[in-house]
Amino acid sequence: MEWDVERFGAIERWTILGEPRRNSLSVALLRELLDHQARAAADKGLRVVIVTGAGTKAFCAGADLKERARMDEGAVAGFHKTIRAAFDGFEAMPQPVIAALNGAALGGGLELALACDLRIAAEGAEVALPEVGLGIIPGAGGTQRLPRMVGVARAKELILTARRVSAAEALAMGLVGQVVAQDQLAAAALALAERVARNAPVSLRQAKRAVDRGLALPLGEALDLENRLYQACIPTADRQEALQAFAEKRAPVFKGE
Ligand code: COA
Repeated sequence: MEWDVERFGAIERWTILGEPRRNSLSVALLRELLDHQARAAADKGLRVVIVTGAGTKAFCAGADLKERARMDEGAVAGFHKTIRAAFDGFEAMPQPVIAALNGAALGGGLELALACDLRIAAEGAEVALPEVGLGIIPGAGGTQRLPRMVGVARAKELILTARRVSAAEALAMGLVGQVVAQDQLAAAALALAERVARNAPVSLRQAKRAVDRGLALPLGEALDLENRLYQACIPTADRQEALQAFAEKRAPVFKGE
């Protein structure tokens, strides 16, 4: 078992169980992740997922370089396909996903976090895309998702220097939304998840899609997409519930339909 899955009501926390190898990404770990994503997509009661790593040293140290050293070129290409599917899988999930960076997020580890919807980091966590120093390039979304998140100039600086960035600097550039003390990370990630989970599930799914897919489109098409995704919220019982709750001055109780 490569992942530990814990349930807190409508929230799940998925923890990478690879502390001795700094939670680096093996083929088995990615395959198990794909299974969890498929299971989550079918789970109507699940509203938010938190992804984190075991221990305090690393969130994820990227590809498992020891496994990589034993791979031939064909196997490396196969790994690359699997990692792409697994990271795109976070975007395809209907639920928002929060990356809780409990330590270093390097290479594929940072790319994993970039594929999530929200990021929160412990004070000591560092992030980097060190690939150009290893004779490759960030190949699991880093060259595309990082510039969309922090801008082209900053992304090129981080990618071309391969330098490590502190949690405070990552916060300043908008790469993470919140930095907390290491011993507060689990609670802060759960609090953030609860804040998200109390909103209407259909709205969360449509809003996530609108942002992710709209960014890839010219503005006019993106606004058409937003309109289509909005329309899908109109017939929901949850929209009626929100109006009723407002009139009755109480918190809405959403059912996801
Ligand atoms: N793949 C496989 N094993 C890894 C690994 C990786 N990506 N990163 C670390 N490990 C292993 C080390 O080889 C070491 O194993 P050992 O105990 O058998 O020697 C163990 O994890 C601990 O590593 P260490 O460097 O001593 O831990 P640390 O806590 O001091 O530092 C990191 C943690 C993540 C900062 C550091 O290990 C690191 O920089 N790793 C390489 C990251 C990297 O370049 N990833 C590739 C991106 S493309």
